Amino acid sequence: MIVSPSLLAADFNNLAGAVSMLENSKADWIHCDVMDGVFVPNISFGFPVIKALSTITDMPLDVHLMIVDPGRYVDAVRDAGAGIMNVHQEACTHLHRVVDAIKQAGMKAAVTLNPATPVSTLTDILGDLDMVLLMSVNPGFGGQKFIPRTIEKIRALRSMIDAGGYDTLIQVDGGIDTVTGALCAEAGADVLVAGSAVFKAADPAREIAALAAL
Ligand code: DX5
Ligand code: ZN
Repeated sequence: MIVSPSLLAADFNNLAGAVSMLENSKADWIHCDVMDGVFVPNISFGFPVIKALSTITDMPLDVHLMIVDPGRYVDAVRDAGAGIMNVHQEACTHLHRVVDAIKQAGMKAAVTLNPATPVSTLTDILGDLDMVLLMSVNPGFGGQKFIPRTIEKIRALRSMIDAGGYDTLIQVDGGIDTVTGALCAEAGADVLVAGSAVFKAADPAREIAALAAL
């Protein structure tokens, strides 16, 4: 399992410490949650913070944009050092154009779906995507409860990807711990995002190792 811990739950007074812990753990990527207070009710952090992170680590930065019209920021996200740019399907009128721009900019392209958005909405673009992120909570806040229906969405998406012969990864984000993460793994997920479960754990590196072993 690929593990992408979310910095949203880290101590913002010591992000360098969080990155150092991740570098010495089995984490693969670093998940960065950008919120604009419009697409989601909350505001988190933006590109200057991500750029600062990129100067202290070579780990891939997995940038999840919970903002309206994210296509405006493809160059800014690339310049901030992102390896993966995650945009919400619900926030892009011209999703195909945005995905194309992300790839042209040299990043991996990922599309995120809110809990109420069906996976079938991606039928005509799935083969162009490096990853699909299925939200297992309503985006905007850490520490929420995993929505069980997500498991059926993972299974349905897995079938679509396998039927098409694509190598698109399935990522799941929200309320992930070793219990819900195991259910996602069994249903066909490839990447788990975890905020609270990692950073509120007594031993974060141990929690990451447990997720990686799923
Ligand atoms: C929620 C964010 C998540 C969040 C996950 O809007 O997209 O990445 O950090 O936090 P937990 O793991 O605490 O649910
Ligand atoms: Zn996220």
